[in-house]
Formats: sequence, C-alpha cells, structure tokens
Amino acid sequence: MDRRAFLERAVWLLSGMLSMALSVPLVGYLLAPLWHRERRRYSVRLMAEEDLPLEGEVAEAIYTVTMRDGWRERREVRIAYVVNLGDQLLVLSNSCTHTGCGVRWVAEQSKFVCPCHGGEFDMQGRVLKEPPPRPLRRLAHQRKEGALWIEVEA
Ligand code: FES
Repeated sequence: MDRRAFLERAVWLLSGMLSMALSVPLVGYLLAPLWHRERRRYSVRLMAEEDLPLEGEVAEAIYTVTMRDGWRERREVRIAYVVNLGDQLLVLSNSCTHTGCGVRWVAEQSKFVCPCHGGEFDMQGRVLKEPPPRPLRRLAHQRKEGALWIEVEA
C-alpha cells in the first residue's frame, strides 16, 4: 500500500469513527422517550352535581385518562363508583385489589362483586369476601364548578 492509499483509508476510518461517536448521543436522545414513561397527576371531571347519587345510592361514572407513552399518546377509559353515604361522598376505583379485574355494583345485593374470583366488597369498598387483600382504592375528589372532579395519575 502506498502512502496516498494509506492516508485515504486513515481519513475514511477517522471520519467513520467520528460519525459513530457523534451519533451515539443523538440516537440516545431520539430513543429516550421510548424508555421514559411520563406520569402526571391531573383532575378529571367525573360527573355533574345533578347526576350525583342520592343518599344511600351508588352511581357508576365512566371517565377517560390520557397516557403518554414515549411519543405515543393514548386514551384509556376507566370506571369509578360514586357512593353517597349521606354525610360523606366516596369515589371508589372499580379495580379489584386482588388481580385488578373490574368490579361491578350489584344494587339488589348492596355490594360490589368481582367476576374473576368471586371477591366482594361492601358499599364503602371494604372486603366482604376474599381473596381481595385490601379495600377498593378511594380516589381523591373535590366538588367545583358544579361538578365532581377526581385526581388521577396517568
Ligand atoms: S380479581 Fe377480584 S377476586 Fe380476583
């Protein structure tokens, strides 16, 4: 190999190595959102004041949360139950604390029933029948602007 060919190859090799060295942080910057899932807390309007359940009743409320997953944004429909205890309003997640199946309010039996393994909860979300290990999760809520709002993390 003569001197000219050697220098030519050396220049190509150096420029290739330089390009690779510069591309690593760039590729990392571009792909970072794939591994970083942003979690946010925000308020969601659950229902209007006039739709709240009467004392001693339970109302189902369907709401949507927006999840950010990398560059993607997707919406997830969720269900919560609003329980009017008279002196207190509860908002319960419908997610069973056993393995996460969706519980359903059965008004005739005054309890929440889980279809997966037969777990049951009372009106306040306390466990009536195992296997669920914990009560239904209570969601933070507030009344404002003529509606009931809940705090969600998505
Ligand atoms: S998921 Fe509800 S009882 Fe198992």
